[in-house]
Formats: sequence, C-alpha cells, structure tokens
Amino acid sequence: MSEPLMPATRPGNGPGAVTLSLPDAAATAQVGAVIARALGELAREVPVVVCLEGELGAGKTTLARGLLRALGHAGRVPSPTYTLIEPYELDGLPVHHLDLYRLADEEELLFLGASDWLDRPGLTLVEWPERAPGMLARADLRLMLALAGEGRSLTVHAASVRMDAVVAAVTDALERDGT
Ligand SMILES: Nc1ncnc2c1ncn2[C@@H]1O[C@H](COP(=O)(O)OP(=O)(O)O)[C@@H](O)[C@H]1O
Ligand SMILES: [Mg+2]
Repeated sequence: MSEPLMPATRPGNGPGAVTLSLPDAAATAQVGAVIARALGELAREVPVVVCLEGELGAGKTTLARGLLRALGHAGRVPSPTYTLIEPYELDGLPVHHLDLYRLADEEELLFLGASDWLDRPGLTLVEWPERAPGMLARADLRLMLALAGEGRSLTVHAASVRMDAVVAAVTDALERDGT
C-alpha cells in the first residue's frame, strides 16, 4: 500500500459529484443498489475501490448491505468491525467489504492479504478509509454520508473519471423517482 495507484482526482462537488438526501435506511440501501448496478460490470474487468465515509452511524454499512444484496448476496451481511474484512464472491465477482475503524497500522492490511486482491478485477468497499491513506488514495468512488435531521445526506463523488457513469446513473435514478 506504500505506492498507491493514483486515480485522476478532482475537487469534491465538482461536475463529477451529486448530493442527495436519504430520508430513511431503506433509501440508503436503495442507493447502494443503484450504485451496484452502475459499477458491477466494470468491477469484473478492473479493480474498483469504493470508499464509504462518514461518522459512526452515518449509514456506511447500510449502504454496503444494499450494494451487496443488489449484486446477488442473499445471506446476512455482518459489519466487518472486528474482522476488518468480509470477503464475498457474487456470481464470480470478488467483493471485499472492509471496516478499518480498528485498524492500528496501514501495514496490517498487507497481513490481511489486501495485496492479493487489490490489483485484480473486483470490488472493494471500504468503511473508514481515512484509517489507511493508501486506500483513500486509490478510491474510484467516494460515498460521503452525513447525519441530516432524522435522515442522512449522501454525496457521490467520482474520484476517477471512469466513475462518471456511476454519478450519472445515481442522478438518473433520482430524476426517475422525481425527488
Ligand atoms: N438514511 C437514513 N435515515 C435514517 N437512518 C438511517 C439511514 N441510513 C441508515 N440509517 C440507520 O442508521 C443506523 C446506523 O447505520 P450503519 O449503516 O450501521 O452506520 P455506519 O456503518 O456508518 O456506522 C442504522 O440503524 C441504520 O438503519
Ligand atoms: Mg459500519
């Protein structure tokens, strides 16, 4: 993780970003499903890193669950708070769900085998990427959740140009919903 591949980055909330409000947990899961449909095929061809940012309780795991279910996972989705990593294989697609809150040292990721999958096609979902700057630097998509009254707000930010299509898909889904 010492030499992260730097994706083309842009400032937050530039043209490659959209912000939406999520009134309840179902809406959080639903946007996860929209994102899954928008990037599932790409992740079969290239490694895709999705960072889930926001304070404790912001909805990171809820969004990851919606995403995993939309990719075909039928079982439960435990929060990787203690295991740090939960691996899945969904219709041949490798998916790794990480929660780095308890990560003591970025090097730990290497011992957890991250180098075995990070450079291969597949999807990596990372809660608390701030704990591992190398991981944040590899983000293709940044999902920033924040408390907003009873609900949450979400900014979807394309950190690499190939994620523009995902931001467009989320924007389209919003327009179809008429919200
Ligand atoms: N849009 C939302 N509005 C209200 N509550 C939400 C929303 N999204 C998620 N929640 C709830 O917030 C709580 C914390 O969610 P969780 O996904 O575990 O957060 P995190 O992983 O960021 O700590 C859960 O009870 C979840 O149902
Ligand atoms: Mg969580």
